[in-house]
Amino acid sequence: MENRPTAYQRPSSDASLRWGILRRSLLPRSSSRTDHGLQESTDNISRKAVSGFNLIYWRALDDHFPETLGYPLKGKDALKPRDICILYKLPVGNIPEISLIQRRGNCIELNDFEVSTRHDVDTTGLVCCWPSEDVLAYFCISHSDVFRSKKVLELGSGYGLAGFSIAACTDASEVVISDGNPEVVDYIQHNISINAGHFGERRVSAMMLHWSQEHPSEILNTFDVIVASDCTFFKEFHESLAWSVISLLKHSEESEAIFLSPKRGDSLEKFLQKIREIGLHYQLIENYDETVWNLHQKFLKGKNNSWPNYDKDHFYPLLVRIKFFPFS
Ligand SMILES: C[S@@+](CC[C@H](N)C(=O)[O-])C[C@H]1O[C@@H](n2cnc3c(N)ncnc32)[C@H](O)[C@@H]1O
Repeated sequence: MENRPTAYQRPSSDASLRWGILRRSLLPRSSSRTDHGLQESTDNISRKAVSGFNLIYWRALDDHFPETLGYPLKGKDALKPRDICILYKLPVGNIPEISLIQRRGNCIELNDFEVSTRHDVDTTGLVCCWPSEDVLAYFCISHSDVFRSKKVLELGSGYGLAGFSIAACTDASEVVISDGNPEVVDYIQHNISINAGHFGERRVSAMMLHWSQEHPSEILNTFDVIVASDCTFFKEFHESLAWSVISLLKHSEESEAIFLSPKRGDSLEKFLQKIREIGLHYQLIENYDETVWNLHQKFLKGKNNSWPNYDKDHFYPLLVRIKFFPFS
């Protein structure tokens, strides 16, 4: 295994790359509504959330939601005009809906760019819950055995639907939901507190975790399972992300990282190259779930018009299972 380099190369075009991604996500495109019926407030949510696999049924609450939910959000917890509450109905028995406070669509503010620049991280985690996160949440719920009695970390979680799903639907012992953008971490923290009743005995926490900064020693070599969705598109962070995976996974036992990532040009392949270089084993799987695959085929062939302009390269997440074997 190679030694971890001390400095990472940064391409000079970081800022324009960030702008490009944001622009893509915020520019209106033609989109039709899904037929879920209850999504009456979709105009308030980023179009990325409107078009998607929609494996986790969701609805937006209107502005009177605190009364609807049965708990007040007052004082510092009051809903800001830029925010909206989305209820996610996880596809498992009697699990109550998870409520996540998120930004309304197009509500990226000047201050967000200031924070993003100061912390060397993008603002994509504020934009929406991305399609891969929906698939990751669904995958984790469908493979709940993987998480039994495990200490789990979500990296680059954004709003963290997958982390919240693991916390609510599996027998994980602990779930840490992390991101490198402090504004995103504030949302995670807030959302953990309003959903605290859904986690049973599990310890669930939010963590500010930037891949290229030194990680606290107490979390090194401790996680049985790491999950991440759509985190491989910034090549500048491939090296630090790969090293974060290897340093945070537990080394005394078999442990694994589960990534769901669209190809996005050659970015996924370049990330996998780093994974190979540091000596980790992985499996890359295109067809990992019948339901997801069938939806993907329908979007591709235009047989399901809920996602016009479906672009396989940007939206269909491939499954990467990275295994750490002790003594490897
Ligand atoms: C495309 S978003 C995906 C968010 C979420 N996983 C989803 O799919 O909805 C990428 C996420 O990675 C986070 N991120 C980007 N660079 C990071 C870094 N260097 N360290 C930690 N998090 C980072 C962003 O803040 C953002 O939340």
